[in-house]
Amino acid sequence: MGYKPDYTRDDVTPKSLWLNRRQIFAGAAGLATASMMRPALAQELTPNTLEEITNYNNFYEFGTGKEDPAKYADALTIDPWSIEVGGLVDNPGTYSLADLTDGMTIEERIYRFRCVEAWSMVIPWNGFELNQLLEKVGVQSGAKYVAFETAYRPEEMPGVRFPVVEWPYVEGLRLDEAMHPLTIMATGIYGEPMPKQNGAPIRLVVPWKYGFKSIKSIVKINLVEEQPPTTWEKANAREYGFYSNVNPTVDHPRWSQATERVIGAGIFAQRQETLMFNGYDEVASLYEGMDLSKFF
Ligand code: MTE
Repeated sequence: MGYKPDYTRDDVTPKSLWLNRRQIFAGAAGLATASMMRPALAQELTPNTLEEITNYNNFYEFGTGKEDPAKYADALTIDPWSIEVGGLVDNPGTYSLADLTDGMTIEERIYRFRCVEAWSMVIPWNGFELNQLLEKVGVQSGAKYVAFETAYRPEEMPGVRFPVVEWPYVEGLRLDEAMHPLTIMATGIYGEPMPKQNGAPIRLVVPWKYGFKSIKSIVKINLVEEQPPTTWEKANAREYGFYSNVNPTVDHPRWSQATERVIGAGIFAQRQETLMFNGYDEVASLYEGMDLSKFF
């Protein structure tokens, strides 16, 4: 039997969102299943330019410099692309990207993107909800987490020669986080196919979590029972936890998370206050009863 989240689409109606003006003003992108929300969102969140979005990146497989991905990611072969889906699913297998995503709605989601390094952008993604993909492969009842893996191609990725993190890059979500309608698989930006430096051809976007949870160029998705290891937790568990929810009250051990530098705002612009869950208050119920200073 497939996994059933404890909310339905009716519980997350656009009405509850437009009634909450404060949340919209705060820039929470809301649940954009409602096309009526889009004009309001576009007004409140001004996306960064494509130039900014594609020239200030973290994709360590191509180097650790912010401009390295733009310089080197062109070498990545993205066609053909296949994704191996396994673990606790009804329909495991290696799917071509086209087969796996066939029939999935491509829509625009303008999301705030908050990096753990305390900078932020607003990005208009195209993609579909991860829950659509999970429903297609049939999540079995024992599954509690989703594990993701990035391609590892030393011949195409100059950065993997350096052991800055353990390769391949891996990430994970709890199943209810993965099923949440805000969680998307992005295949494009500004209506164009995903630029390689941003994780072509397909990447995860979880707007209430720090950017590093948004794993790029995904080749494996596994449904598992145990909490999967994640690249940054493996690299430094004291500094990076599994949850990595944007939280201005829990500082990174080496810097504050209370404010953020807005990319594109200019060097003299004031830093912006960081919002709990990056402003996406509707996910708070996922963490009820959890001590978020412990589960950071
Ligand atoms: N995915 C892979 N495979 N490798 C990476 O180095 N960096 C992460 C995340 N996904 C990373 C990755 C980090 S730290 C951030 S902030 C975002 O990608 C950056 O996404 P962007 O370059 O599209 O803004």
